[in-house]
Amino acid sequence: MTTKVKHIAVLTSGGDAPGMNAAIRAVVRSCSYYNIKCSGVFKGYEGLIHNQIEELNARSVRNIINKGGTFLKSARSKDFRAVEGRQKAYANLKKNNIDALVVIGGDGSFTGALKLSEEFNFPVVGIPGTIDNDINGTDYTIGYDTALNTVVEAIDKIRDTASSHNRLFLIEVMGRDAGDIALNAGIGAGAEEILIPEENMGIDRLIESLKKSKKTGKTSSIIVVAEGDTSGKNIFELGQYVEEHLDGYEVRVSVLGHIQRGGAPSCYDRVLASKLGVGAVEALLEGKSEVMIGIVHKTVTIVPLKEALDKRIHKHDMLIKVADITSV
Ligand code: F6P
Repeated sequence: MTTKVKHIAVLTSGGDAPGMNAAIRAVVRSCSYYNIKCSGVFKGYEGLIHNQIEELNARSVRNIINKGGTFLKSARSKDFRAVEGRQKAYANLKKNNIDALVVIGGDGSFTGALKLSEEFNFPVVGIPGTIDNDINGTDYTIGYDTALNTVVEAIDKIRDTASSHNRLFLIEVMGRDAGDIALNAGIGAGAEEILIPEENMGIDRLIESLKKSKKTGKTSSIIVVAEGDTSGKNIFELGQYVEEHLDGYEVRVSVLGHIQRGGAPSCYDRVLASKLGVGAVEALLEGKSEVMIGIVHKTVTIVPLKEALDKRIHKHDMLIKVADITSV
């Protein structure tokens, strides 16, 4: 590979996701493999603005592939949204003789990376790391698979108690704009109903459907509700509404919250993160910039960051049908 890139920095930004450590490890070790310098930026773009940068080598990332969170720490930086913040960040990249940046994060982090590159002509590559799986141009984001398994395990446990007490549970899962966690974990855990931001089934249809399944002999029910559900009621109001309009069930609400972001990454996420980390360094060495490294049909792909940031056209129809059929 012929390249002008001799020193790459890596950072994690936005909400953390299991597998980010495995991605950092892959970036650092790829740099080592290709004989170039690597530095870690602590606390995302905040650390770039405040020059919290340290050189890393292959041994700096030992024993982290199995750890949740990100040892580089993460942040959602307000200052980086302003051009003054990005100027400071660029000055620190120059001061440390860094030639290119790998950003592991979600859409907000990619927007920042794109701005940095456009304003200062600085090479950047993104790696999709978010439990939401809401990035265009990749089948999976790092952390999503682990989060799904965490959610399914939690719902299985709730189902035990729901069925012992003949109760109906509403369970809130993460996903402000994307129903991927709700739909897939909902199907995996056998939920009776799944509410996602991309489709508003309407509260009355929900009640009708619950009444129907009760008539067929169901004695307890699980409704998975994505954080960004658009029914117009928060999960507690929704729980109260269901209790008032449906006879025979006691209703309980459970918000899974940040438990979904923690824990050891699944094998799938570790391997995905490793592939994308290697892909990111190789893309920079090939002179690429303003791209994301994604995975499509098991193949590592290079997608323009602008495309990755496009609004995702959801492809949930098949899953919605499967959820409907299997929850009768
Ligand atoms: O983007 C990941 C995510 O976990 C979303 O699912 C959730 O809406 C958000 O982050 C929560 O952010 P915070 O940890 O800042 O409250």
